[in-house]
Amino acid sequence: MARKKIALIGAGNIGGTLAHLAAQKELGDVVLFDIAEGIPQGKALDLSQCGPVEGFDAFITGTNDYKDIAGADVVIVTAGVPRKPGMSRDDLLGINLKVMKAVGEGIRDNCPDAFVICITNPLDAMVWALREFSGLPHNKVVGMAGVLDSARFSTFLAWEFGVSVRDVTSFVLGGHGDTMVPIVEYSTVKGIPVPDLIKMGRSTQERIDAIVKRTASGGGEIVGLLKTGSAFYAPAASAISMAESYLGDQKRILPCAAHLTGQYGVDGLYVGVPVMIGKDGVEQVIEIDLDEKAKAGLQVSIDAVKELLVACKGIDSSLA
Ligand code: APR
Repeated sequence: MARKKIALIGAGNIGGTLAHLAAQKELGDVVLFDIAEGIPQGKALDLSQCGPVEGFDAFITGTNDYKDIAGADVVIVTAGVPRKPGMSRDDLLGINLKVMKAVGEGIRDNCPDAFVICITNPLDAMVWALREFSGLPHNKVVGMAGVLDSARFSTFLAWEFGVSVRDVTSFVLGGHGDTMVPIVEYSTVKGIPVPDLIKMGRSTQERIDAIVKRTASGGGEIVGLLKTGSAFYAPAASAISMAESYLGDQKRILPCAAHLTGQYGVDGLYVGVPVMIGKDGVEQVIEIDLDEKAKAGLQVSIDAVKELLVACKGIDSSLA
């Protein structure tokens, strides 16, 4: 059987880490694409030379030509620029929207059957725009945010309870970052819900509230420490788990920015919800009952996404 092909659009910090993980896990051959000349080629060469040491056979190549992503099975998009000091939200939107247009058209023309995972921020708007520009089916285009947010939440919960991260599951809905909606009732240690653990005296409501807050600003905490960039190891690992679920038809339930058609009262937007990912991409959106607090939190996320889409449509009239 021919090897799978993984195309990574953007060969920056996340793109390079994605390439390394995809090769180590032998998900397939890897093509790193970037507009910057030399960067994808240089990183591909460096990473290829890990092969003999780490024992992987995946071919890793770098390119500036969209034709080289032809026939890719999975595309992971990190192309774009981060928000810089002095840049307004609309400045950032304008720049990254243009990037999504070029990337979307590149995917449409070269690998329209791919499963596409978008990481570029502002995520919930960029994944929507990428889908619009590519014209791919909605179930084949998803955004990576919830896996990362819940990984952050799980990490802090494991530290709080002094248990293995493998025994923690956490549940988040909604947008990336500030508007994230952690569902504490569905977050557990080996099946024991966090509120029960509080009752058992293993933590306090105040400490869990602080963890929730830290999780929501988890990206900013890392930016504050790094000063010259944003998180890349965990974002890359999160997107790889989504790619693996698709390639292996694993049917994992993962929180992703997915296109909703009435679920959670939302129609036509990308919002972070739990979905099942298998060989057909997003195979199911899992709809759970929410209490009033969670509903209100999700509504804040939905309103924020709507506002971003209005701004996108104002910038690029082809999206209106
Ligand atoms: N096409 C392809 N690549 C592009 C384009 C484009 N039109 N525009 C920019 N790039 C490339 C840049 O050359 C750079 O190599 O995207 C890469 C982005 O890499 P980094 O700046 O290192 O960013 P990274 O940390 O990888 O994060 C990528 O994920 O977390 C989000 O919002 C964040 O948008 C950012 C993205």
